[in-house]
Amino acid sequence: MKDYYVIIDCDPGIDDAMAIMNAVNSENIEVKLISTVSGNLTIEETVKNALKLTEIFKVDIPVAEGARQPVKRQSVYASMAQGTKGMGGYTFSTPKTKPFIYKSPDAIYFFLKENPAKNTTLLCLGPMTNIANLLTKYPDAKNLISRIVFMGGSKDENGMTEPYREFNVAYDPEATQIVFDSNIPLVMVPMELGHIAYFTPEEQGKIKRANAVGEIFYKMFSKYNDFHVGKLGAAVHDSCCALYLSNPEIFRTEEAFIKIDYHKQKGQEYGFINCNFDAENKNATVCVDIDVEKMKKIIYGNLFNYN
Ligand code: RIB
Ligand code: CA
Repeated sequence: MKDYYVIIDCDPGIDDAMAIMNAVNSENIEVKLISTVSGNLTIEETVKNALKLTEIFKVDIPVAEGARQPVKRQSVYASMAQGTKGMGGYTFSTPKTKPFIYKSPDAIYFFLKENPAKNTTLLCLGPMTNIANLLTKYPDAKNLISRIVFMGGSKDENGMTEPYREFNVAYDPEATQIVFDSNIPLVMVPMELGHIAYFTPEEQGKIKRANAVGEIFYKMFSKYNDFHVGKLGAAVHDSCCALYLSNPEIFRTEEAFIKIDYHKQKGQEYGFINCNFDAENKNATVCVDIDVEKMKKIIYGNLFNYN
């Protein structure tokens, strides 16, 4: 019996792919749905990538198509970091599996209602457009979600990290604020963790030599130039988020009040997360550090399941 259910909402995406591999190999959770959203790529690409990933990871988990653009803004994709198809240098044939009968947010609501214990965690690895649409269309959904663990934003209260550069929030800040306004318990995994949790080229070689799945990741990483970390290696932001579910003990966290602020630059208005650790009332647990060596050991262990 697993501890609790998880619904993953993602925009695969190379680091989404590794996060999904970790989540579906975690002993303590049961992934009920992989919901997709446009973000790194168009919704057509992210759905196809998610379907293919369930085949690669040999799991029978429904994949739902979700929002094709932000709640208000126009889409601005991240193919410069993820590759034109969102899987870096890995190209694959059309997946055999078909998307779930319902699209998100209906698909998410379907599985939330299916879980009477109401102990479903949302693992959000992309823009939060689907979650905002879920809360708007189904106001009672917030009572069926135990917490939202999301990759997004910047914790750096000194402003040293350009907070408006974090993609998931910048893509749909209005959706992110709708989610924050729901008062669902939040765990934030900011981009600074990806700045330290990355695989060096040597470690990517170790991943390649593991097995066929490792070889696929190696091809993905081959073109994954994560501009946050430069050419040091592949920053696995989303995996940090997934590992919070299976191994929260490898993180250091602090409580904070988080909200969306806007930054105007060159005629553009960027949305970013203002993270206040000194606020009197806190609304989120923020991951401020991770044991990188333990993180990598857990990921290798999950990868070796495919030997
Ligand atoms: O800023 C990093 C986030 O943006 C990750 O979720 C990555 O997959 C991209 O979606
Ligand atoms: Ca992502």
